[in-house]
Amino acid sequence: MAESMGKLRRTHMCGELNIDNEKEEVILMGWVQKRRNLGSLVFADLRDTTGIVQIVFDNDISEEAFKKAEKIRSEYVLAVKGEVYKRQSINKDLPTGEIEVFVSELKILDEAETPPIYIKDNDDVSETMKLKYRYLDLRKPSMQKSLKMRHKAGKIIREYLDNNNFVDVETPMLAKPTPEGARDYLVPSRVNKGKFYALPQSPQLMKQLLMVSGMDRYYQIVRCFRDEDLRANRQPEFTQVDIEMSFVDIEDVISINEKLIYKIFKELKGVEVELPIKRMEYSEAMDRFGSDKPDLRFGFELKNVSDVVEDSEFKVFSGTVKNGGSVRGINVKGYGEEFSRKKISKLEKFVKTYGAKGLAWIKITENEISSPIAKFLSEKELNGIIDRMEGKAGDLLLFVADKTSVVYDSLGHLRVEVAKQLDIIDKDKYEFVWITNFPLFEYDEENERYVAKHHPFTHPVDEDIELLETAPEKVRAKAYDIVINGDEIGGGSIRINNSKLQERMFKALGFTMEEAWNKFGFLLEAFKYGVPPHGGIAYGFDRLVMLLTDNDNIRDVIAFPKTQSATCLMTEAPTTVSDEQLKELSIETLEVEK
Ligand code: AMO
Ligand code: AMP
Repeated sequence: MAESMGKLRRTHMCGELNIDNEKEEVILMGWVQKRRNLGSLVFADLRDTTGIVQIVFDNDISEEAFKKAEKIRSEYVLAVKGEVYKRQSINKDLPTGEIEVFVSELKILDEAETPPIYIKDNDDVSETMKLKYRYLDLRKPSMQKSLKMRHKAGKIIREYLDNNNFVDVETPMLAKPTPEGARDYLVPSRVNKGKFYALPQSPQLMKQLLMVSGMDRYYQIVRCFRDEDLRANRQPEFTQVDIEMSFVDIEDVISINEKLIYKIFKELKGVEVELPIKRMEYSEAMDRFGSDKPDLRFGFELKNVSDVVEDSEFKVFSGTVKNGGSVRGINVKGYGEEFSRKKISKLEKFVKTYGAKGLAWIKITENEISSPIAKFLSEKELNGIIDRMEGKAGDLLLFVADKTSVVYDSLGHLRVEVAKQLDIIDKDKYEFVWITNFPLFEYDEENERYVAKHHPFTHPVDEDIELLETAPEKVRAKAYDIVINGDEIGGGSIRINNSKLQERMFKALGFTMEEAWNKFGFLLEAFKYGVPPHGGIAYGFDRLVMLLTDNDNIRDVIAFPKTQSATCLMTEAPTTVSDEQLKELSIETLEVEK
C-alpha cells in the first residue's frame, strides 16, 4: 500500500553520504535496488540519482519499520528516516561503503511490480527490451552518468560561446528543405493543402541568413532530422552544436573551435589536447588511411604499389593499373602470426562488403614467404612490393586492386577492422585531426554529374576558383572536418558570400539559374544586399558525448533514441493515424501492411 511522504522532507542524497555524516539523522528517498532478509535484520540498498546506500531495519530500533520492511521488494519507492552508523564490515566497492543508515521510520511511497529488465550495469538484457522499457534502463548508474555528462558538455559549450560573444538564436523546425544531402522528413500543412514543410537537416541556410542580418556570431544546440540509413553513430534525429561567424576565414573558425575542444576535453576528461590540433589535407588522409576520417591511434597505413606491378603477368594487378585503378596494401606489422588462412579469408569477405573483388596477401616469416599470388609475380616484382611495404619477418601484407575509390574504402575499413581484431587500440588515447582542403565536388556516377561534396554554398580555395569551369574535379573547398579517433565529430566551411561566384558554383553543379532560384531563391535574394564573409561549423553533439562517455553507440547518450529502423520501441512511434486526420490534411495513403 502506498503512503504519502507526510512530514518527511529529503535531507540528503543516497550516494553522497559518507563517514562525515556519522551519527547524523537523515531522511533519504529512492528506489530499492535489492533487499536481504537476515531474520532479525532486514538490509536494503536504496538508490537515487547519486548512487546507493545501505539501509538497515532493526526490530529493536523500530518494530513498525521492521515489519513494513518485510514487504518491500526491488524498485519499491521509499522514504526513510534514520541515523548514520559506521559499518562493521566496510564495502570498498561502494562510495558509501563505510556507512549504513539504521531506519527509525519507513514510508512506502509506491510499490512496484517486478521490473522486466535488470536495473544494473553490465547486464545482458537485449537492446529491444532496454529500449521498450527505456525509463527503467535510464535508472542504471551508467545511463544517469551519460545524461549528466551530456548536460555538462552542453553547459561548457554554452558558457564558452557566450564568453566569446556568440548569441543563441532559434531557427524554425517547420522549414524548407536544406541542402545537406539526406532525405527529408516532411510535415504536411493542413492550412496550405498539398504543401509540406521539411524538418531541417541542419539550420545551414538560416544561420547564413543570420550573418546577412548582421548577427555576427551565432550558435545553437539544435535538433536536426535526416532520413538516411542508420548506423551506430547515426540517428534520424540528432543534435548539432551549430556555429556561424562573420568576417572570418578558416584560421579564425579553427582557432576558436580548437579552444572549445580543448576546454571540453580538459574539463570533462582531464585530457590536455595539444594545440594547435594537427591538420591533414583530404588527399593525404585518403592516400595514407583510405578515409577522410582516419583513426590515428594505430598504423597499418596504406601504400601504393601500382608502379611496381603495372607490367606484371598477374593481370588482376597490372590490368587494374592499366584501367586507371590502383593496387595498394597495408602492412599488418608484426602480427602476421595472428592470421591463419582461415582468418585471412574472413578478412577477404570483409573487404568484399566494401566492393573489393578479392584480397591478395603475402605473409613473411623468418624462413619463407607464403602467398597465393607469389607464383604470378616475378622475383623483382615480389621484392619490389615487399620493399615498398617495408615488409619484414613477422608481417602480413594485404592488397586490394580496384578502382581507387574502392581500394580506399575497403583498405580504409580493413585497417580499422584488423586493429579491432588485434585489440591494439588504446582506449585512453585521443587523436584529434582537422581534415582540410576537401574536394569541392564529388562525381555522381549514377547521375553522371558533379555534386557538392559539402553543400553548394561552400567557398572554393581561392587559387582554385579559376578551375571551376575547366577542371572542377581539381577544385578544393575551404571546408574542414574535425575527426577524433576515427569519428567525424564536426564539419564546416567558409561560405560563398558573392552572388557572381555563387552563380558559377550553381552552373558547375549543372543547375540552371531558374532551378537554383526555385530551390534557394530566398538565399540568393538575400545575397543581393551585402553579405559579410562568413563561415562556421557544426558538431555532432551526440557523437561528441559518445566519445566523452566511452560509448560506442550514440543511442547510449540520447534519453529516448530510435532503433536502426527509426522506430521508438517505447512509444511505438511512428504509428498510423485516423482517416479523419489524413482527410484534414488532404492525404491519402497507399495500402500498406499494418
Ligand atoms: P554535416 O552534415 O557534416 O554538416 O553535419 C555536422 C555533424 O553532425 C553529425 N551528424 C550526425 N550525427 C548523428 N546522426 C546523424 N544522422 C548525423 N548526421 C550528421 C556529424 C557531422 O560532422 N550545416 C553543416 C555544417 C556547416 O557547414 O556549418 C552540416 O550540417 O558529427
Ligand atoms: P584468383 O586468381 O582470382 O584466384 O586470385 C588470386 C588471389 O588474388 C586471391 O587471393 C584473391 O583473393 C586475390 N584477388 C583477386 N582479385 C583481387 C583484387 N581485385 N584485389 C586484390 N586481390 C585480388
